[in-house]
Parts: sequence; C-alpha cells; structure tokens
Amino acid sequence: MDNLPIKELIQTALDARKNAYAPYSHYQVGAALLSSDGTIYSGCNIENASYGATNCAERTAFFSAVSEGKRDFLAIAITGGLEGEEISDYAVPCGICRQIMQEFCGDDFQVIVAKSTEDFRQYPFSEILPFGFDGDKIR
Ligand code: THU
Repeated sequence: MDNLPIKELIQTALDARKNAYAPYSHYQVGAALLSSDGTIYSGCNIENASYGATNCAERTAFFSAVSEGKRDFLAIAITGGLEGEEISDYAVPCGICRQIMQEFCGDDFQVIVAKSTEDFRQYPFSEILPFGFDGDKIR
C-alpha cells in the first residue's frame, strides 16, 4: 500500500513503548495503529503479576481504537526490545494479536515491524496469518 505515514507510525510506536509496563519480562513493546480515517492509536504492553492477564501493545492499540468506534484499519507499526538496551530485532506480533487483526483487518492491512524509523520491514497481513479463523461460520 502506498502513502502510509510509515515514519510517523514508527515514531509513535517508539514513543508508546516508553509507557510499557513490563516489570516481569522487561521486554518493552510499543505499537501505533492507523485507522482508515487517518487517526493513529498507540498502545504499549501492560503486564500483570498474574502473567496471563498481560496485554500486548498491539491489542492495547486495537482496543483503544475500537473503544472509540473505529473498525477499519490500514496499518500497524510495532517496536520492541529489552528495557535499557537498543532495539536489536524486529518485534513480530504474537498469535493472539494476529487473531485480533483477523477480526478487524483485511488481507492488505500492513504490518510494519521496526528497529527504528530507518530500519523496518513491512508485510501484508495475509502473509503473516494465512488461513486465519474468522466469524463467518458462527451464528
Ligand atoms: N508482547 C507484546 O506486547 N506484543 C507481542 O506481540 C508479543 C509480546 C509483550 C507481552 C509481554 O509483556 C512481553 O512482550 C513479553 O512476552
């Protein structure tokens, strides 16, 4: 997809990462989700002493956007790495977050994984979750 504000999305994800609450894993993640109306929703991971209650950065961003009435999305940027260290790798979305994307995003939703505004990779959603489960069969 052309004309995505990729650098702005990555910078927003990097800024959101500063709010990560990750006292258990020390792995801090930030995400920035672009709505089709141009609004950017950010999110960070929010951990919990009951580990399973942890929320990933991507889901935080999606839940923030959906709770404001947005249902149509173009792209998400994700940044992650260990606290106090330079980001050394691309942080790819976990399976649960991919399933959330499946609920709200089409095949050409763009997933941008970034180490910095200059160093990133971009994948269409269909490439990172082929043959996903959706609600078509549920009534
Ligand atoms: N995490 C995310 O925020 N996004 C992902 O897609 C993968 C994992 C968070 C959850 C947890 O706080 C930490 O990274 C380590 O798993």
